[in-house]
Amino acid sequence: MKVLSIVGARPQFVKLAAISRAMSQVVNHGESIEHFILHTGQHYDAGMSDVFFKDLEIPAPNVNLEIGSGSHAMQTGRMLEGIETTLLDVQPTWTLVYGDTNSTLAGALASVKLGMPVAHLEAGLRSFNRQMPEEINRVLTDHAADLLLAPTETAASHLAKEGLSSSTTVTGDVMADICLLVANSVRNDPEPPRSPLPVPPGSKYLVATIHRAENTDNSSRLRSIIKGLHSLDNQVILYVHPRLRKRASEFGIELSSNNVFVAEPAPYPELIASVLGSIGVVTDSGGLQKEAFLLDRPCTTVRGETEWLETLVDGWNVLVRDLNELAAVASRPSPTSSRGEPYGAGDASLRAVRALFAASGRDCRTER
Ligand code: UD1
Repeated sequence: MKVLSIVGARPQFVKLAAISRAMSQVVNHGESIEHFILHTGQHYDAGMSDVFFKDLEIPAPNVNLEIGSGSHAMQTGRMLEGIETTLLDVQPTWTLVYGDTNSTLAGALASVKLGMPVAHLEAGLRSFNRQMPEEINRVLTDHAADLLLAPTETAASHLAKEGLSSSTTVTGDVMADICLLVANSVRNDPEPPRSPLPVPPGSKYLVATIHRAENTDNSSRLRSIIKGLHSLDNQVILYVHPRLRKRASEFGIELSSNNVFVAEPAPYPELIASVLGSIGVVTDSGGLQKEAFLLDRPCTTVRGETEWLETLVDGWNVLVRDLNELAAVASRPSPTSSRGEPYGAGDASLRAVRALFAASGRDCRTER
C-alpha cells in the first residue's frame, strides 16, 4: 500500500512523527507501507521545520514544494498545483492529510479532484468559529475526505451531526502518542534539554506561546495579551512564533519585560522539558493545550473557544475571554483531579494506520 503524507506546518510534523513510526511497524498479510512525504514548505524556518524532522526522526520529505509565506489564496493555490504533480507521479493508495492548515486543505482538494482517496487525520474538530481560517480548512477537508480519522468521541459526534459517521473511525490522538513518548525519554534522560529561561533549576515559571491570527493580527488585542503576560506574578518563558515576532515589531509592541523572557521557537523535546519543569501554560495553540493536559500542568487558553473540550474538565484548561482576567486565571492553583485518557493510551497512530489498511479493503492482522 502506498501512502502520500502531505504536511507543511509545525504541528503536522509532530503528527507525522507518530504516523511514520507506526507505518514502519504495521504489516498487513506480509504487505508493508510505502510511505512518501510531501512538504509544502508552508513553514520553512529551520527552527519551525528541519529541527522537527531531525529530533523526531522523521524521514526526509521526498518532495518539498517550498511554497513559503503568502496570502491564503496564494499559498493554497500554489500548493494545489505542486501537489497534483506529485499525486500523478506517486499514484498513492491513500493521500493522508493532517489537521487544519492550508496544506491540509490543498492536499485534500488536489487529491479528490483526481479521484484519489483521501484520509483526514484529526478529523471532526470544531471551534464553531468561522472567522478562523483553520475552521474553514477542517470543515472543507472533512467533507472532501473518504476516511475520517477522529481523535476523540467528541470529534466523532461532530462528524455524525454533519452526516459523516459512515466514514468515521475513532483512533485517539496521535499527538498524545508522541507527547507521552518524548516526555518519557525526557524524564529518563540524565541530561534532559534545558529551558533557556535564565533562572535557577527548580524556579517556578509559566510557558507561553501566542500565534493565532485572531490574537496576533489586531494591534490592540495583541497589546492587551502581552500586557497581561507582563502583569503576571510569575516568570514566563515566551516561545515566539515568527508570526508573533513580525506583528509585534509592526505594531511597536515590546515582548520582553522584567518577568517575560523571549525565546526562539523550541525544538519539540525542549518544549516538552520546559512544560514538565513549569507550573503551567498560557497559550492559544491547540497542541500545547493538550500537551499541558497530558503532562499534568494547568493551561490558560487565550481564546473564546477550544476544539479540545476534554481539556476543560475540572479547570485543567480555562478559556480567557476577558483579557483583564488573564493574570488571575493563569496564577490559579493546579487542579488535582485525575482526567482519564480521552486522547487514547498512546496507540492512536497504530490504530490510524490499521484503519487505512481496513478501509482500503484489506484488514490488518499482523505487526512487526
Ligand atoms: C499555520 C496554520 C495553523 C497552525 C500554525 C502552527 C494555516 C491557515 N494556519 O499558522 O493552523 O496552528 O501554522 O504554527 O495554515 N513564518 C516564518 N517562518 C516560518 C513560518 C512562518 O517567518 O517558518 C511567518 C511568515 O511571515 C508567515 C507567518 O509566519 O506569513 C504566518 O505563517 P503561516 O504559514 O501563514 O501560518 P501560521 O500562523 O504559522
